[in-house]
Amino acid sequence: MSQTARVYIFDTTLRDGEQSPGCSMTVGEKLRMAYKLTELGVDLMEAGFPIASEGDFEAVDAISREFPWVQVAALARANTLDIERAAKALEPARRPRIHTFIATSDIHLHYKLKKSQQQVLEEAVAAVQLARRYADDVEFSAEDATRTGWDYLEQICRAVVEAGARTVNLPDTVGYSVPSEYADLIGRMVKALGDKAIVSVHCHDDLGLAVANSLAAVQAGARQIECTINGIGERAGNCSLEEVVMAIKVRNDQLPYRTGIVTEHLYEASRLLTSLITFGPQPNKAIVGENAFAHEAGIHQDGYLKERTTYEIIDPKTVGVPESKLVLGKHSGRHALKKRCDDLGFDLGAEEINLVYRKFTEMADRKKGITNDEISDLIRQHVVRYNHAVA
Ligand code: KIV
Ligand code: ZN
Repeated sequence: MSQTARVYIFDTTLRDGEQSPGCSMTVGEKLRMAYKLTELGVDLMEAGFPIASEGDFEAVDAISREFPWVQVAALARANTLDIERAAKALEPARRPRIHTFIATSDIHLHYKLKKSQQQVLEEAVAAVQLARRYADDVEFSAEDATRTGWDYLEQICRAVVEAGARTVNLPDTVGYSVPSEYADLIGRMVKALGDKAIVSVHCHDDLGLAVANSLAAVQAGARQIECTINGIGERAGNCSLEEVVMAIKVRNDQLPYRTGIVTEHLYEASRLLTSLITFGPQPNKAIVGENAFAHEAGIHQDGYLKERTTYEIIDPKTVGVPESKLVLGKHSGRHALKKRCDDLGFDLGAEEINLVYRKFTEMADRKKGITNDEISDLIRQHVVRYNHAVA
């Protein structure tokens, strides 16, 4: 049995992810995604924000019914209506979590809520107490925690835990923090709460630091990461589930933690999400992008063909990608071309490969990426013994 600390994966693809532009899903689509998330082994699934729409209410209700063994969370602002609506949607769930939140930073208190720190503190405590009447498992989030004064934040954290919150989430709502600073903040709150509550992190990617911040927080004692498939979410998105999980898996020497994620399902989860929303990950996205396991440069292809680990730190099968790709383009070398010719069924000798390689580089200078059909055509046109096959 491994002694490494367990980090819980709280997936919010169906809530924070779904509420961002181009990502809305019907109840049926959310159910399909939820099924994949259960296969993936997420610890918690945030299924929606029931007060926000009828669809969100139905999605939380349907997911709670369909997946009774899973922990399902529903979001609620720190007020009675929201909490009661979340509790109602979670009624069929066997392991419900009410996730209630209120902003705590001066900027949000002054401009958005127009409330004093004392008022917000009291509302946070009242919200947690009310949520506990409906569920044993209550999470409290201090929205914009990273722009909140630390003394006040600690006061709120202690108060909501006293009121019954089991998890305290400290979101970097606007993606403003940097890893060392976030680690200090999390370390302080972990110390203040001890073993009375799990400290959770929820990072947005406005500066491209969501994964780094989440990992720094785990190193400082956080034990729940809130994240999404393909990193979807408000603005620049949330911490990407596949990236944070694979960083822990691949660099377990530096990050000695474990998650319950069955990583072989990552690619399929990413593809399914792409088919349900209006965009997919960019091609060079880590782990699940189309180029994440593609090699074009000749030196890389040559090294890869001699020994995969020269240029790959992850076996693509570990994340469910069937195989790496050798892309033939103007940077490719003879080794990759020879391998492709073999794969296409052309057993060319050294002279023939030289000839086809010359023609291939001429073509590659003119266009981006060369297809298998174009390579077959080149061979048939220029290698005498295959000429007869040209129509
Ligand atoms: O980014 C954020 O602060 C949130 C909270 C509601 C958890 O999404
Ligand atoms: Zn968020």
